[in-house]
Order: sequence, then C-alpha cells, then structure tokens
Amino acid sequence: MKGVILAAGKGSRLYPVTHHIPKPLLPMANRMTLEYAFDRLKDMGVTEICIVVGENEPLVKAALGDGAKFGVKLSFVRQTEPLGLAHAVGFTKDFVGDDSFVLYLGDAIYGYGFEEHAAKFLESGCANLNIVKPVEDPRRFGVATVDGDRITKLVEKPAEPESNLAMAGMYFFGPQIWSVLPDLKPSGRGEYEITDAIQMLIDRGHDVRAGVYDHVWFDTGTLDSFLETTRFLCGGENRIAEDAVVHGQILDNVVIGAGCTVTCDSIQDSVVLPGTAVHTLGTIHRCILGGNVNESIDLDGAILWG
Ligand code: DAU
Repeated sequence: MKGVILAAGKGSRLYPVTHHIPKPLLPMANRMTLEYAFDRLKDMGVTEICIVVGENEPLVKAALGDGAKFGVKLSFVRQTEPLGLAHAVGFTKDFVGDDSFVLYLGDAIYGYGFEEHAAKFLESGCANLNIVKPVEDPRRFGVATVDGDRITKLVEKPAEPESNLAMAGMYFFGPQIWSVLPDLKPSGRGEYEITDAIQMLIDRGHDVRAGVYDHVWFDTGTLDSFLETTRFLCGGENRIAEDAVVHGQILDNVVIGAGCTVTCDSIQDSVVLPGTAVHTLGTIHRCILGGNVNESIDLDGAILWG
C-alpha cells in the first residue's frame, strides 16, 4: 500500500505565520507537522509517500528532501489550484498506479496508529474504508450514515447531520476511486469533494466501509486547535529549547523554539516559533509568535509575525 498526503492548502486560518512557514512544516511541539503524518503511515508499513503540494512546493521540498532522514521515500506532485480534496487526489494517479493507498490530510494529528483499520481494509477487499469518529458538532465535517460498518450515505458539512460520525481525515482506497473522479462536479462551495467521490462509489454499488477511531484526533488548522494539539503532544510539560533566552515567568503549555529570545511579564498556553525575538511589557496568553515581535500590551489570542 502507498501513502498520499494532502498538503496544498494555504493554512489561511493561521495567517500571518503561514505566510512565512508553510502549514505542513509548522512546528508542533518542535517537530514539523508532517513528521506526525509520517509516523502514522510508517506504523502501517507505508513508506512510499506522495505529498500533494501547492504554492508552498519549493519550501516543502527543501525541508523534506527525499524523505530519507524521516525513514520514508517521498515524491511530490503539484496541485495547480486548491480546488478540493478529490481534485488533489487526482494528481497522484501515476504515483499510485495499480496499488491501494492511504489518504492522509496533512494537518491532521492522531494519538494512535491505524494498523487494525489497514488490516481490515486489506482483508475485506472493499473499495474504500474511511476512518470516522463520533463528534459533538458534526456540521464542520463530512458526515457518514452507517448500517453496521457499511457507509450508506455521506454528506459534506451538512446543516442538519443525520449522524454524529465525522469523516476523520484518513481514507483507504482501492483502484475503484479512479473510475469516479472524472465524473465529479464541484460542490456548493466550489470544490471537488472527496465525500462526493465516495458517495459516487456507494451509488455505483461499491463496498464502502467505516472504521471507528477510538483515540484522539486533532485538526491543527486554527489557533485553538493548534494550541490544544500542542498541549496534547507536550503531555502537559513545557518545551523550552536549550539555547532559548527567557526573561519572564513561564506558566503552563509553553513551547519556545531554538534561537528564541523572549522578554515578557509571563507566558502561558503559547508557542514561540524557532528564531523568534519577542519583547513585550505585558503577558502572553494563547498566542503563536514568530519573527520579531515588539509590543507594549498584553497579548491574548493572537497570531503574530513581526
Ligand atoms: O478534517 C476532516 C475533514 O477534512 C473531513 O471531515 C471533510 O469531509 C473533508 O472535506 C475535510 O474538510 P476541510 O474543509 O476541513 O478540509 P481542508 O480544506 O481543511 O483541507 C484538508 C487538507 O487538505 C489540508 O491539509 C489542506 C489539503 N488540501 C485542501 C484542499 C481544499 C489540499 O491539499 N488541496 C485542496 O484543494
């Protein structure tokens, strides 16, 4: 089985930081976001991986190279425009060839592996198995209606969800997917949706299944989820790089990268990216900071690049 990671999004909900560091490379607890994706794919023995990149291609390629230093073999394809997940997958057809593949959304981070789901997909011989997870508010996700472990219906971000099972950003596909992609039409939000492609598999009589994930899953794309994921990955401890210079009180859930200088009253629940200089007379709370930040006020809930 091969691996496909989608990493062509713009990371716009983390602007301006993602103007300077592409989302897939953004450090989470001092490791690049995509390194966690490599871990999850390697758990399943998947090491041949294609990353779908966009405008971020030069920086992502330069940072990851051929993947040898991460124990994987990487290739890259460029999605011309971010027109949706199914559109992005279409660019990987030559890479996948006749194989099956795991599709991983590049900004997802999971607390545990998917080995049993991979085994179930391969043993069942189904066309597609999707990882789902019950969530409180499914309206932000693709939502699956199931009958046992069969998916009977899928809707992208429904206003009135039929179930609480969110599509959790991990998909296993056989070659059947290639037959539906050319027939897809853009959705209401103008994207070629992977959920619509899977619905088309169902409509054409293919065997489409769900595998429930019992562990933590984070989508790291917003300030809140970025900080929540950081808290999880750090296991409640602060991560302060050895060479960082900090004047001020360090409270909880703080990550300060290599080469940083931080002067403040106190810092809590925040990430200071490597090489950043921060100078403020006030407190820092729930922030992501990069570049050269000079402020005289308390910083709360800010994403800043000075
Ligand atoms: O997080 C799980 C959800 O991910 C699923 O429940 C939804 O069914 C699925 O459509 C997707 O929804 P989002 O709207 O949250 O996807 P997002 O636009 O955040 O993109 C997910 C990843 O795919 C992200 O790492 C960027 C990448 N991407 C996105 C688009 C639209 C691409 O590589 N190319 C694209 O064209």
